[in-house]
Amino acid sequence: PYDRPVAELLARMTDDEKLGQLQQLAWAGATGPGGTQTQQAEEAARAGLLGSVLNIHGAKESNALQRIAVEESRLGIPLIFGLDIIHGFWTTFPIPLAQAASFDPAVSELDASVSAAEARSNGVHWTFAPMMDVTSEPRWGRIAESGGEDPYLNGVLAAAKVRGYQGGDLRAKDRIAACAKHYVAYGGAEGGRDYNTVDVSEARLRNHYLPPFKVAVDAQVATVMAAFNTISGVPAHGNEHTLTRILKQDWGFDGFVVSDWTGVQELVPHGFAADGADAARLAVNAGVDMEMVSTHVADHGRKLLSEGRIDAARLDDAVTRVLRVKFRLGLFDDPYVPEAAEIPGPTARARSAARTAAARSMVLLRNEGGALPLAKTVRSVAVVGPFADSDDLQGTWAGPGAEKFRSVTVLNGVRAALPDAEVTHAPGIDPAGEDTGTLPAAVAAARAADVTVVVVGESPAISGEGNSRSDIGLPGRQEELIAAIAATGRPYVVVLVNGRPLALGDWADDAPAVLEAWHPGMEAGNAVADVLFGDVDPGGRLPASFPRTVGQIPVNYNHERTGRPYNPADPDQRYVSRYLDVADGPRYPFGHGLSYTTFTLTEPSLSRNSIAAGALRRGDTVEVAVTVRNTGEREGDEVVQLYLHDPVASIVQPVRRLRGFRRVTLAAGESTTVRFGLGADDLGFWTNDPDGRFVVEEGTVDIIVGTSSTATAKDTLTIS
Ligand code: IFM
Repeated sequence: PYDRPVAELLARMTDDEKLGQLQQLAWAGATGPGGTQTQQAEEAARAGLLGSVLNIHGAKESNALQRIAVEESRLGIPLIFGLDIIHGFWTTFPIPLAQAASFDPAVSELDASVSAAEARSNGVHWTFAPMMDVTSEPRWGRIAESGGEDPYLNGVLAAAKVRGYQGGDLRAKDRIAACAKHYVAYGGAEGGRDYNTVDVSEARLRNHYLPPFKVAVDAQVATVMAAFNTISGVPAHGNEHTLTRILKQDWGFDGFVVSDWTGVQELVPHGFAADGADAARLAVNAGVDMEMVSTHVADHGRKLLSEGRIDAARLDDAVTRVLRVKFRLGLFDDPYVPEAAEIPGPTARARSAARTAAARSMVLLRNEGGALPLAKTVRSVAVVGPFADSDDLQGTWAGPGAEKFRSVTVLNGVRAALPDAEVTHAPGIDPAGEDTGTLPAAVAAARAADVTVVVVGESPAISGEGNSRSDIGLPGRQEELIAAIAATGRPYVVVLVNGRPLALGDWADDAPAVLEAWHPGMEAGNAVADVLFGDVDPGGRLPASFPRTVGQIPVNYNHERTGRPYNPADPDQRYVSRYLDVADGPRYPFGHGLSYTTFTLTEPSLSRNSIAAGALRRGDTVEVAVTVRNTGEREGDEVVQLYLHDPVASIVQPVRRLRGFRRVTLAAGESTTVRFGLGADDLGFWTNDPDGRFVVEEGTVDIIVGTSSTATAKDTLTIS
């Protein structure tokens, strides 16, 4: 519907004004190197030479800047304001990795819709989320922002987030444009070192890294952000294959591609562009439509055009894309936000949603002898550890709310849950793992209490962007603290707060219970207490494997098959793919998580055991049904997971891959039948053909259903 107004506006624009629409500058708060550009942004807006500003919020402040663009520039084209709202604006939800652990897309959709309403009322039109970088690299700090190691799970969550941010109509005053990032394969950074090289086959790219982006594009995501990494030698910002051929041509994406912070400039240090002008040429021609922070397209665009190094049609295409999104957001009808309607902070409802989300995200890794849940009749509890009284549990990339609205501490959450009990506290050590001189006090508190809750993990300051770690154990002396508490011989449980899978020490095999709480957001302590005391059954499951040691990484469940696989029946076999000095496989696999009750699942039953490949391609599906029963004595949650294994294919396949999941809540004794539909998209795969060839091959496929990636119950489908 906007083709005509966009074309009419475009026809009135000078080349400089067009290039201006492709420029985004940073307002307050740098989220990359080089600082902010506040004054430059005001001047460019006035001159009509600016398309967007990032890191601005507040109805008054954003309206004031918008007024300059709309009322003082020649054409009055409104600016689009972007901000990283990754897991909350005022109301901080758990980090995205935790949301993935909920295996419940409703959690992500709710986070996104609460965030959108708060942000839009504060003048923000656009978030740089969701992030959907599939990764099996826990050393990489940005795993906290992703949905973990599985493409299917990342895709389901990405779609949920796009729905939550955008709704059905971007003009609505409680919706914002989303941005699928980081396109593409950023999660494959070698060694888990941020911004590092990615070398990937076409098949791996299309089967592993691209699918969540395709799902987001199908969900009508408004924008896409290019990634910092190279893709097989070509930086993502200069990659015509991924940006133009796949995203824009094959998938028909009609929104715009924004660079990452100085991503265009970085083509120079990559050694891909000779200088800034060359970087602008390469990025624009590859398909980048808007440049964030660096200014090479605006600075050199006119000369590049006159020399024919950028095509006028390509410039018009980029500007059209940017203007189209502005029209979709309704910015030409109403560029301002009503200052009186600004949402000033989290509402009670939003807080309650964040608490539910955090509790639904927690994963019970271990629970020997029913150590959890703790009885509410307990008379005394010691809450110890470096994060027991921490209000800094929001996690990486928390929004503007993080400073103003701190997290409920675990200590306070326990106190609120047990108003009549004696709740004592000593940190033992600090969040960096250093001795605070209170280790003896923590031990004494544990000795005196009926039960001790030990809260350990990693601080948000060492999680997220630019925070790769080579050692992903508990930092500092935290294991010593756990050992000291264990040595008291008194009951204890461990709560982990962290942004990545950790290589937990052997203490984890001795602890009575280990609850993975991630960085749970602003309602952290309340949500932890909800799970500890059994008000909420821990229904979260791991979205990424927990290695035993760093040296095992990657230890993802969906790795490709080798010719000499490890054989559990003969663990000492010599010439097989294994490590000599560590047991095979992760400490906790993808999909793992315990409940306070027990479940049984029937074998999967298929609606048919054979189907013609042609029928699948025409849209037929095979239904898989499994009945799950709560065999315990209390209500609880289970996540039914469906995996596929293709035993023989023309491209070596993963040992298994997730193709469906459903989280169910069942009362004691209750059962339900879960059904999954499998079509060609699920049963086929992309080949290494650079033009993109998707095949459904004849043969058999094992359909495995269970409650983690180690499930064994299966049936077989024959494709003829
Ligand atoms: O959106 C982010 C991106 O994920 C990392 N670099 C900075 C951008 C804007 O803040």
